[in-house]
Amino acid sequence: VRVAGDAEVAAMRRAVQLSARGLPTAHPNPVVGAVVLGPDGSTTVGEGWHERAGGPHAEVRALAAAGERARGGTVVVTLEPCAHIGRTGPCTAALLAAGVRRVVVAVTDPHPVAGGGAEVLRAAGVEVETGVLAGEAAAVNEDWLIAVRRGRPLVTWKYAATLDGRVAAADGSSRWITSAPARADVHRLRGAQDAIIVGVGTVLADDPHLTVRHPNGELAALQPLRVVVDSAGRTPAGARVLDNAAPTLLAVGEGAAPPVGAEVVRLPAAADGRGLDLTALLSALTARDRRFVLLEGGPTLAGGFLDAGLVDRVVGYVAPALLGRGPVAVTTSRTGATMEDVRRWRLEGVQRIGPDVRLTARTLEEV
Ligand SMILES: NC(=O)c1ccc[n+]([C@@H]2O[C@H](COP(=O)([O-])OP(=O)(O)OC[C@H]3O[C@@H](n4cnc5c(N)ncnc54)[C@H](OP(=O)(O)O)[C@@H]3O)[C@@H](O)[C@H]2O)c1
Repeated sequence: VRVAGDAEVAAMRRAVQLSARGLPTAHPNPVVGAVVLGPDGSTTVGEGWHERAGGPHAEVRALAAAGERARGGTVVVTLEPCAHIGRTGPCTAALLAAGVRRVVVAVTDPHPVAGGGAEVLRAAGVEVETGVLAGEAAAVNEDWLIAVRRGRPLVTWKYAATLDGRVAAADGSSRWITSAPARADVHRLRGAQDAIIVGVGTVLADDPHLTVRHPNGELAALQPLRVVVDSAGRTPAGARVLDNAAPTLLAVGEGAAPPVGAEVVRLPAAADGRGLDLTALLSALTARDRRFVLLEGGPTLAGGFLDAGLVDRVVGYVAPALLGRGPVAVTTSRTGATMEDVRRWRLEGVQRIGPDVRLTARTLEEV
């Protein structure tokens, strides 16, 4: 197998740029970019990226742009072409039909169903090289790759706290700890998710709506699934999460009688007896094609997720304010007895948002 030449590396750099165009819209799919080089191996004859789930894959779009000029050419693509029939046909078939001679791939696909395209192409006589600019391509798809490797959705836990770490006052009220700009940022964060999860305690205390709104107050066209974790089905029939502004899933225990107005999934109890089995909850979300989820509390449910090792990233909005009393961001059962229990995370970002600060940290647990 030849080693990728300068033209192919340059094309891959371009394909990585193209892939990033799919970032807000490709969910729950990966972002992918592709460039087709003509038979001379260096002239770009087509480009494409994956824009949205259900739409054409990057290599199919690039091949369509190239037309007959792809015959005998090279396709440079950031993720291994899929070999299965999902919502669209297998990309391997499209590459073979186009008469491509060589395929250069950055990242091999870890997906248990969609992966394996490189082998299919090689078996059909196409030259395949993998690993070209793999680090750069993987960085754009980092969250998707983590979720696929973990075999569950990527979980981001978000909270808003005072400087003394409190997420509500002693009476349970929490509106509003952070500023309007920080809350607008939360809507942006929500907009990049497939589901938003809260515990029934938060529904009872705050009656949140959990929708994505634009800065002008309008509801966004695409709304994540709202999920309430509620063993006994205590969500009130008139709760705002049950309106029709967005779809809602109530996760309840076997015997519960939840209110009508939402889809219901029945889950087993957690092994430690603290509510529902959260791994089963994430499986239920995977089954609904939800790959990126935002956990919005409260402290009890966040503790359940953390103790089960199911949080990948934390986004903390911290306001320069003090409450002195009230619940802190998380109640866990496993840590805090001694400094040996401390769990350290990798700081990913620090940003000022209006008068507040946003801290982002990622787990150090290996995938
Ligand atoms: N500032 C913030 O960012 C923020 C965000 C959210 C909430 N809050 C505040 O937090 C308070 C509410 O928090 P909370 O801790 O009482 O309620 P919560 O964490 O929203 O909900 C906890 C409930 O979830 C249910 N649950 C089901 N399975 C669970 C599991 N495996 N692990 C843990 N819980 C499970 C349990 O009720 P069942 O046993 O009935 O199922 C549990 O009591 C309110 O004061 C609210 O204002 C603040």
